[in-house]
Amino acid sequence: MARVLLGVTGSVAALRTPMLFEALGEAGHAVKVVATTAATYFFDPAALRRQPPLPTEPPEQPEWLRSPVFVDDDEWPRRADGERYRRGDPVLHIELRKWADLLLIAPLDANTLAKLAVGLCDNCLSCIWRAWDTSRPVVLAPAMNTLMWQHPLTKRHLRALAADAGAGHIPGHLADEALLQQINERSPTLRIVGPITKTLACGDTGLGAMAEVTDIVAAVQTLLTQLHAG
Ligand SMILES: Cc1cc2nc3c(=O)[nH]c(=O)nc-3n(C[C@H](O)[C@H](O)[C@H](O)COP(=O)(O)O)c2cc1C
Repeated sequence: MARVLLGVTGSVAALRTPMLFEALGEAGHAVKVVATTAATYFFDPAALRRQPPLPTEPPEQPEWLRSPVFVDDDEWPRRADGERYRRGDPVLHIELRKWADLLLIAPLDANTLAKLAVGLCDNCLSCIWRAWDTSRPVVLAPAMNTLMWQHPLTKRHLRALAADAGAGHIPGHLADEALLQQINERSPTLRIVGPITKTLACGDTGLGAMAEVTDIVAAVQTLLTQLHAG
């Protein structure tokens, strides 16, 4: 069992968030979701909020941290009412970063991938990434239109993440599959579950759809097992 923080970004594949949430729970993990504003166009966080509280939460955990799902507005409590920060207010991205054993971002869209690669942190999820303990495991499941996936920036960003995750220098000329294989073999903590070929929401058929939920959960399990064995 691990405490899995599930980051969700603005891809159509975010439709499958409830399914992924459930599958991770069935695999025995405690799961909390952090959704970007764009992600909430594709699934309803309120539906996840109706889930019963995690049985594994320690009793001393504050009430507000018991929620299974967080959105960007939660970072700024009472702001919508015109109120300001009060000394002692929790800083959500830091609390979630401390809570998580493993960060899974599925789907990871092109925008957030770029932000992670350069360290931009303008929402809850990217702030968690910026504060992340790089010795802890991370699983990423990119999802984007084929044309976006094929753009040279995608590889550049993935290679940058891999270098920060201890994979060393990965050559730039590698084809997609070889690139992901090298990252996954060489990084002790980072796994990328590559996209698959499908007819995408835009009507194009090609590589870019998020991997199947079962494969993403399997990647989480395998990485946790490898780390416990090592
Ligand atoms: C209907 C729709 C579907 C989209 N699907 C994707 C996608 O699959 N992958 C992607 O990288 N961007 C996709 N986008 C664009 C992102 O939502 C956009 O870049 C957004 O700013 C991402 O914000 P976020 O990274 O904070 O979630 C889509 C946009 C729309 C309107």
